[in-house]
Order: sequence, then structure tokens, then C-alpha cells
Amino acid sequence: MPQFKSFLENQQFEARHLEQLFSIADSFANSSSESTKQQQAHGLSKKIAALIFFEASTRTRLSFESACVQEGVHPMLLDANASSSLKKGESLEDTVLNVAAMDPDLLIIRCDDSLDLQAMDKLVAAPILNAGWGTKGHPTQALLDAYTIRRFRKNLKSERLLIVGDVVHSRVASSHIQLSKLLGYEIAFCGPENLLPTLREPVQIFSDLKTGLQWATAVMALRLQNERHSDSQKEAISLADFRKHYALNTQVLKQLRSDAIIMHPGPINHGVELDSEVLGDPRNVVLQQVRSGVWIRRALVRMALAGF
Ligand code: CP
Repeated sequence: MPQFKSFLENQQFEARHLEQLFSIADSFANSSSESTKQQQAHGLSKKIAALIFFEASTRTRLSFESACVQEGVHPMLLDANASSSLKKGESLEDTVLNVAAMDPDLLIIRCDDSLDLQAMDKLVAAPILNAGWGTKGHPTQALLDAYTIRRFRKNLKSERLLIVGDVVHSRVASSHIQLSKLLGYEIAFCGPENLLPTLREPVQIFSDLKTGLQWATAVMALRLQNERHSDSQKEAISLADFRKHYALNTQVLKQLRSDAIIMHPGPINHGVELDSEVLGDPRNVVLQQVRSGVWIRRALVRMALAGF
């Protein structure tokens, strides 16, 4: 297995380690839910994981919580915006250091770009898992997406993932840039020019959604992240234009091959990046992604506590 303490970005792994991770996730996926719950807890039963969420989350938070419980690890949750001393002026750094001083065995952190997780990793003894870090990366989401593609489409190396919408603010998209190189699938972006990133490495861009859909074997719609938009972006983005050119609906999805899959990392804004009718499409695997998230995060919790 790889030798590192914390998991902050996907390029820490080599492809063979990701295959090991996927194999562990497969073992959870292929067990019945009852037998999965009853599996031996690998000596992790006295372990504590502190989940520190400085930003809102439904899927990541609860899937990590479920992953911990299924591994016999006790989750300790700080929903920092709702109920923490941030309200009294405590900094994000001090919050993490104080939680770490309670000696949890694992820290699972979601934060914005203002917290430096690499720096925090040097200051705390427990391993840290990145549960979504500003616009920098959401490596476990990219892993569960790739794992979902692998389950439905079998051979990742011949897959082509089209990521559509607010790419520039998407930590999921940035994590796929890294992960696609490791696992050998192709990615391309499609979105309005002011929502596409300026990249050091070239990524294929489709300005026309229909052409992109004809190319893809998997398509992933992204939410417009209004909370991260600058004033100039807010002025420049017309919702009607965005919907006309980049929203997924039944009509445009006729361009997507019949054995392709339709994904979304969640949360979905119905009627913005995706029309509700799309969720009735047999190619939709959005809730399968959520299921994959528990298996992948459970495998990561196990690996982190055993020492990556
Ligand atoms: N995809 C994702 O990270 O969802 P949450 O923000 O609900 O965790």
C-alpha cells in the first residue's frame, strides 16, 4: 500500500493502489447490507473519527458518518457553521487544532480555500481525509464517480467523461483532472466561457453541448455555485442563456448514446443545470453515485486508520 499519513489529493495514489481501494469498495458493494453491517470491525472499534464540516454537506458528511459506523469507528461531528465557536470569532485553524487536541484517530475535514489542509496536516498527529476543500479538490467525490463509471461501464480506460456547467468553481472537476490521468479515462469540459477554468494542462473543451454528448460515454452536470460567483460573474451569467445552451434535458440527451450514464455529484438544482425529467432516464445513476460514496469512503476510512 502507499506510504502517506493523510489523503488530501488523488495524485498521492498510484493506479495500483486505487485498484486496491476499488477492490475493497467492491467487497462492500457485493455484500448484502446486513452482512456488511455485521462484518468484523478490524480492531477499529475503539477508534474515533472527528468530522469537521466548515461548509454545508449532505452526501459527504453522512456517507463518511455511515462509513465510520460500519467500520466500528465512532464518529464525532462538528457542524461548524451551525454550532461551533466560529460564531465567537475562533479561527478555522484553531478549531481544527482544538479538535485534534482531543486525540481523535482520524480527522475528516470540509473547508473553503482559506484553510490550508497541507499546513494543518503538519500540525496534527491524526491523518486527515479531504472531504471537499474549497475549489482545490474533492478527491473522494472524483473517486466515487470513477468507481461508479467502472461499475456501470466496466472499463475505465476506454471511458469519456463530459463535465458540464460551472466547471471553474468545481472542486469535483479539478479532482477529475488528476484522477483521469491516474486511471486512464478521458475528460472534457463544456460550459460558458466565463465558467471554464484556465488550466496549466490542456483539457478538451466542447463549446457545443450536443457535440460533447455525442463524444461522451458518461456525462456529469454541475450545479451553478452561486455562492462562489464574483460580482462580475453574477452580472455576466444569464440563467436563461445557461439553460438554453448547457442544461441537461430529455431533448438534448437524445445525443447521448444509449449505454452511456448520466451523473451529478449533488446537490441538484432542479430546472437549472438539469431538468427533473432527466432523473427518470434509465441512464441516470445519480443515486448510485451516492451509494458508491459510502463504499469508497468506508474503504478510505479503513485504509487511513490502518496507515495508507
Ligand atoms: N457531492 C457533494 O459533495 O455533496 P454534499 O455537498 O452534499 O456533501
